Amino acid sequence: MLKPLASEESDAFVDGIEKHFAEHGFGLWAVELRGDTEFIGFVGLSIPRFEAPFMPAVEVGWRLDRRFWSHGYATEAARAAVADGFERVGLREIVSFTIPANIRSIRVMERIGLTRDPAGDFEHPNVPEGHSHRHNVLYRIAAP
Ligand SMILES: CC(C)(COP(=O)(O)OP(=O)(O)OC[C@H]1O[C@@H](n2cnc3c(N)ncnc32)[C@H](O)[C@@H]1OP(=O)(O)O)[C@@H](O)C(=O)NCCC(=O)NCCS
Repeated sequence: MLKPLASEESDAFVDGIEKHFAEHGFGLWAVELRGDTEFIGFVGLSIPRFEAPFMPAVEVGWRLDRRFWSHGYATEAARAAVADGFERVGLREIVSFTIPANIRSIRVMERIGLTRDPAGDFEHPNVPEGHSHRHNVLYRIAAP
């Protein structure tokens, strides 16, 4: 299990997101429910900061508070992020990746139209060798 970020770590994470928006014109969005201002998580586009065979690439990613799973919110927001990436940003392709055990994340990828690239499997360089989170599967979607 991941532990919650300390407040300085969380602030640094947000600073990184804002810098990404300033540099690239896109980034991870804060997600709220319509008519509510509670922050429920983030979904959006980002450029991975590690070396991998599929790089350079733009990733669509997500993380929601557990209380807000199973309502389709990640799927709805991720679809909007991919549309924004293609229509406004002009990307030619978007990728996503996770460990094979992260079925929920893979289901979001599949629901929004990404397909697995079996040749794209990779070992995550930021995860120690032998760790169960090191082997990742890669999904892709090309601009329409
Ligand atoms: C990955 C993550 C965002 C997926 O959450 P999720 O709740 O499974 O995804 P969604 O919000 O799209 O909800 C999908 C569920 O809502 C249901 N649903 C209801 N209405 C829906 C709609 N209009 N559209 C799509 N799905 C809908 C789906 O049937 C699905 O149900 P299920 O939970 O029974 O399978 C969440 O598990 C998470 O934050 N995980 C931790 C962080 C993480 O692993 N991030 C990825 C790292 S690589």
